[in-house]
Amino acid sequence: MLGLYIHIPFCVKKCKYCDFNSFKLNIDEKRKYLNSLKREMELYKENLENKSIDSIFVGGGTPSILNEEEIKILFKNIKNNFQIKDSAEVTMECNPGTLTLNKLKIMKECGVNRLSIGLQAVQNNHLEYIGRVHTYEEFEKNYYQAKEVGFENINIDLMYALPNQSKEDWMESLEKVVKLNPTHISAYSLILEENTELFNMYERHEFKLLDEDTDIEMYEYTINYLKSNGYNQYEISNYAKKGFECKHNILYWKCANYVGLGVSASGFLNETRYNNLCELDKYEDIIHSGKKPIEWEEKLSIKDEIEESIFLGLRMNEGIKFKYFYEKYNFNFEEEYKNEIDKLKKMKLIETKDEGMKLTQKGREISNSVFVEFMK
Ligand SMILES: C[S@@+](CC[C@H](N)C(=O)[O-])C[C@H]1O[C@@H](n2cnc3c(N)ncnc32)[C@H](O)[C@@H]1O
Ligand code: SF4
Repeated sequence: MLGLYIHIPFCVKKCKYCDFNSFKLNIDEKRKYLNSLKREMELYKENLENKSIDSIFVGGGTPSILNEEEIKILFKNIKNNFQIKDSAEVTMECNPGTLTLNKLKIMKECGVNRLSIGLQAVQNNHLEYIGRVHTYEEFEKNYYQAKEVGFENINIDLMYALPNQSKEDWMESLEKVVKLNPTHISAYSLILEENTELFNMYERHEFKLLDEDTDIEMYEYTINYLKSNGYNQYEISNYAKKGFECKHNILYWKCANYVGLGVSASGFLNETRYNNLCELDKYEDIIHSGKKPIEWEEKLSIKDEIEESIFLGLRMNEGIKFKYFYEKYNFNFEEEYKNEIDKLKKMKLIETKDEGMKLTQKGREISNSVFVEFMK
């Protein structure tokens, strides 16, 4: 399995909670950036000769901020440089307020077959408070336009535990989104990141964070409500109708290889994890000097690979299989982690089944504390 991630770092405006590498839009920068991406693709062309790509994810930032011509250029460059399987999943992240019917048509013509639309909440007061540039109504209009153009596989991103959000507000968000019948829903609990506007507002006591119990109640409600509406939880924050699980994310959680292109993108190739430069100027300068814009890279030891496979694999509801570790690393999982498995089973945080191991619901609620048990 091989994935391709392309980062488009521009946004109309920075959302107050966001610490992703994204910048307020500067129109001139977009063309220059697309040209840099093209150069970067050329630098990877040789690495990927005789390999074909199973999934492409154009993420951000706000990829749908590209205009019609720019979307065409991006996909033309991808196709000129890489071999893409006919069956590949091709996702584009889109933000309401930046989509038009024509852009959607062009995405479809370019081979995009999955959209991931960031909504977050259905109440306009919440959207405004967290700094989103769109209303619920704009989202709904774009959603129906996407359906009209023929997109059948659509994810909607939501967030809960927002400032001043009641449980009823969250229930309403889920209900309205489920009524639209998307194939996939991602529901994340808000992480208050330092160096964000929202963090400063919190420090100024402008709002209170939800207590942990309510956060867990909202999480449990989400799992049950979505399940009763045909969406199976297949990862800590991801729910899908049968057959619509996101191939690209599964590829990350299964530690498969992927090329990451663009400023601040990360990748995993030939047992090596790498991260691109985060500053736009430096990224572009290096590319134009003919070098890959890698800021940091590390070849993983067998121990690192095993640990990554555990904590990424455990994110998925199906969990991990002991046989995989034996066959790939000659590593006897049950023997090496006997004490940890016994302890976590007693605490009802994991269960062992079908010669493998997975998180229980309680384990999913405090997944990070389970993962650290396996980091020796
Ligand atoms: C890569 S991000 C950005 C996608 C797109 N630019 C947007 O805003 O919709 C994907 C999703 O991560 C979630 N997210 C971003 N920041 C978060 C935070 N601080 N805490 C929890 N979820 C967050 C949001 O649901 C967002 O839609
Ligand atoms: S639109 Fe998405 S990437 Fe851009 S600032 Fe908002 S959350 Fe971050």
